[in-house]
Amino acid sequence: MKIQIINGPNLNLLGIREKDIYGNISFDDYFKKIKTKYKNIELFYYQSNVEGELINKIQDVGFSFDGIILNAAAYTHTSVGISDAVRGIKSPVIEVHISNTKSREDFRTNSFISPYAQGIIQGFGLYSYELAILSLLKD
Ligand code: DQA
Repeated sequence: MKIQIINGPNLNLLGIREKDIYGNISFDDYFKKIKTKYKNIELFYYQSNVEGELINKIQDVGFSFDGIILNAAAYTHTSVGISDAVRGIKSPVIEVHISNTKSREDFRTNSFISPYAQGIIQGFGLYSYELAILSLLKD
């Protein structure tokens, strides 16, 4: 089973940025942990701050992987391009957020990705990613 995690802008600063919201662990450290825990899955991780690069990655894996776990970060609330990419591929996409976006500013309540995601997991810190893996394993 092949699962691609894709993180959007500023998530390279996890562990440094707004620790009260996003925690104090870097994604690289967390990724090592889940790679060890889920040895039977081929897990891949990609992060970019650039919208078009995220779209390229979604297209690259979106016809062959068993699932994509996508935290498009701020682009969640703005990007028709990422939304169209998610809509256009075959692999199921699980939308993930570390924080509960519904409990934050109004502009974070809209997601251009949710209508085309298989499901949405948010508000559980980095554990949101693990819950997304488990949701893909259920099939
Ligand atoms: C986020 C929530 C977004 O609103 C924000 O722009 C992020 C991170 C989250 O994981 O909680 O950068 O996607």
